[in-house]
Amino acid sequence: MDLGLKGKVTVVTGSGRGIGRSIAMTLASEGAKVAVNDYYLDRAESVAKEIKEAGGESMPAQADITDAAQVEQMVKKILDKWGKVDILVNNAGIPAGVLETDALSLMHTFMESNKTEWERLIGLDLYGVLNCCHAVLGPMSSQNYGKIVSIISDAGRIGEPRQAVYSGVKAGIVGFSKALAKEVARYKINVNCVAPSATGGTYLSQLTGSDQPRTDEEKERLRKVMAVYPLARSMGRLGFPSDIANAVVFLSSDVSEWVTGQVLSVNGGYCMVD
Ligand SMILES: NC(=O)c1ccc[n+]([C@@H]2O[C@H](COP(=O)([O-])OP(=O)(O)OC[C@H]3O[C@@H](n4cnc5c(N)ncnc54)[C@H](O)[C@@H]3O)[C@@H](O)[C@H]2O)c1
Repeated sequence: MDLGLKGKVTVVTGSGRGIGRSIAMTLASEGAKVAVNDYYLDRAESVAKEIKEAGGESMPAQADITDAAQVEQMVKKILDKWGKVDILVNNAGIPAGVLETDALSLMHTFMESNKTEWERLIGLDLYGVLNCCHAVLGPMSSQNYGKIVSIISDAGRIGEPRQAVYSGVKAGIVGFSKALAKEVARYKINVNCVAPSATGGTYLSQLTGSDQPRTDEEKERLRKVMAVYPLARSMGRLGFPSDIANAVVFLSSDVSEWVTGQVLSVNGGYCMVD
């Protein structure tokens, strides 16, 4: 099937590792030109290099997406290089540095949390998305074409204890995306969300102790996490970044032209929202 992605100019935020990296690599393998955004230049450069080595087209696009000026500058560089922006994937959602230094700060009860943490999450998960959408909508509306896909979380659909602010900001992106989808449909711009639940990579290793649990305690923790996923029991696995990437490819492609303002959970059956 031709997905219509060949030559499409794409920016994937936070794609220097994890789910974003998989999204960037998969879109590039379908022929899209990918601007690899990350807060950390070395991560952006490394994934851009990986794409080139695999035969794709890419550019590193370092920017802190919480800063509107940096986002404008990044989009300008992409326009200078490739002349357009067709697809925006708002993937960055776990504040830079947090998993490395203070992962448990993502898991406070709301009463234990503080304003610094709220601002960090609101800055990235809400302002980051608004900054990026605002910067690309001009070019997209002028060319009468665009796809915006935001990675939220099932936490934003059903609410997760110890992740109240994160759940709230991710839910905010759902309302924003639905309203935006209605505003920009006239320019043939689709706006959708993908909602992962626990997916391989850094966050999952925080839950289970390791990506490849070795000790009895790690295996028991993984078993408990898997127990809440209906498909995990029969398939013996949790989510892979590629599961999320495949959903993003569909929503970024021309075969999903008639889909907008929707949330697609990719979660092994963790939550089933009507
Ligand atoms: N991994 C999961 O289990 C899971 C579950 C549900 C939702 N999600 C969502 O999926 C998305 C990706 O998660 P992940 O686990 O791959 O995260 P990750 O932390 O492994 O990777 C995210 C990347 O984003 C970058 N980043 C952070 N702040 C940034 C900023 N201000 N500007 C630019 N880049 C920035 C980081 O440097 C990092 O390289 C997030 O939106 C997250 O909320 C993940």
